[in-house]
Amino acid sequence: MRAQKNEELAKTPPMGWNSWNKFECKINETIIREVADAMASNGMKKAGYEYIIIDDCWQIGRDSLGNILADPERFPSGMKSLGEYIHSKGLKFGIYSDAGTATCQGRPGSRGYEFQDARTYAKWGVDFLKYDWCNHGKQSAEASYTLMRDAINKAGRPMVFSICEWGTTKPWEWGKSVGHLWRTTEDIINCFDCTNNWGGLGVLQIIDLHTAIGDFSGPGHWNDPDMLEIGNGVLTPNEERLHMSMWAMFSAPLIAGNDIRNMSAETMKILTNKEVLDVDQDKLGVSATRWMKYRDFEVWFKPLSDGNYAYCIINRSNQPVTINQDLKATIKQYKIDGSYRVRDLWKHKDIGSTKDNMVTTIAGHDVLMLKLTK
Ligand code: GLA
Repeated sequence: MRAQKNEELAKTPPMGWNSWNKFECKINETIIREVADAMASNGMKKAGYEYIIIDDCWQIGRDSLGNILADPERFPSGMKSLGEYIHSKGLKFGIYSDAGTATCQGRPGSRGYEFQDARTYAKWGVDFLKYDWCNHGKQSAEASYTLMRDAINKAGRPMVFSICEWGTTKPWEWGKSVGHLWRTTEDIINCFDCTNNWGGLGVLQIIDLHTAIGDFSGPGHWNDPDMLEIGNGVLTPNEERLHMSMWAMFSAPLIAGNDIRNMSAETMKILTNKEVLDVDQDKLGVSATRWMKYRDFEVWFKPLSDGNYAYCIINRSNQPVTINQDLKATIKQYKIDGSYRVRDLWKHKDIGSTKDNMVTTIAGHDVLMLKLTK
């Protein structure tokens, strides 16, 4: 048995959709099929989204031999047939389980059934497993996730393995040989700047937890700041652009969490902005560094495989800020020589060169995402 995960998968951050943020437990096979139809035809697949991931609540129990059972009322055709449907659309099939005795919603966990469950998923054609951390008692996270990694290897079907222990045991320190991505924080909640009583985090709170762990992320082993809340009705377009931009700066997995069967043109544009997706999917896979923080204003830089840079300025306040930045001096400070063409990746427009001062206004909670090209 290999002592590594499958190293051929997730060379760039996985892109897809997951049922949890929008539907929580209220899922069924009709929704999942319709979401697959939508992804295949609305431009998302073309933009690179491919995994359709069914989160918690698809399971209902085990049979007398211990085989995991899908809820027959919600998934009457069964998981194998659902997987075949997803594959027939040219997409990939993701599923969810938990390393403890029960999932976060009290469904059967995989504890004690790791090899049997991995075999079942392989039979169903699963391509991606998100593995959660509720009800784990005194288990060691590293050992529990390593066990499931080995079970997946043994089952023989390549699966992206998504570690979801919420950053509690610093998975960035041990996860590289175990999984392809690891959640870095508690769950995202649908808000820009807030926390809640069980530890849920808004977009800014999650960004703040990524100032020191960028170096652990890279091709095949990604920091996962959680699924997107774009299109879920709370964030403003500015906030959604900032959310999308920073996930791209982090080389984060981009897992849409909205109802993609029915979304506004604005949401669609944000989710499929090719110039921003190219920054996320850049094959160098380096996560951005925060170069500067001044009051409500932050500058993040990300080197790209073509020798150029993505440059992001975020405005955390709800008031507009006008900036007048000597870009030449700024980049020199960071030992970047030469002059660069400056392109706004949301306006799709070249806006000047690093030889000039950049004078611009960034609206409240908005972002300026630039590419600097030599
Ligand atoms: C945890 C995970 C979430 C989601 C729910 C499902 O909270 O972190 O992403 O999977 O469980 O119960």
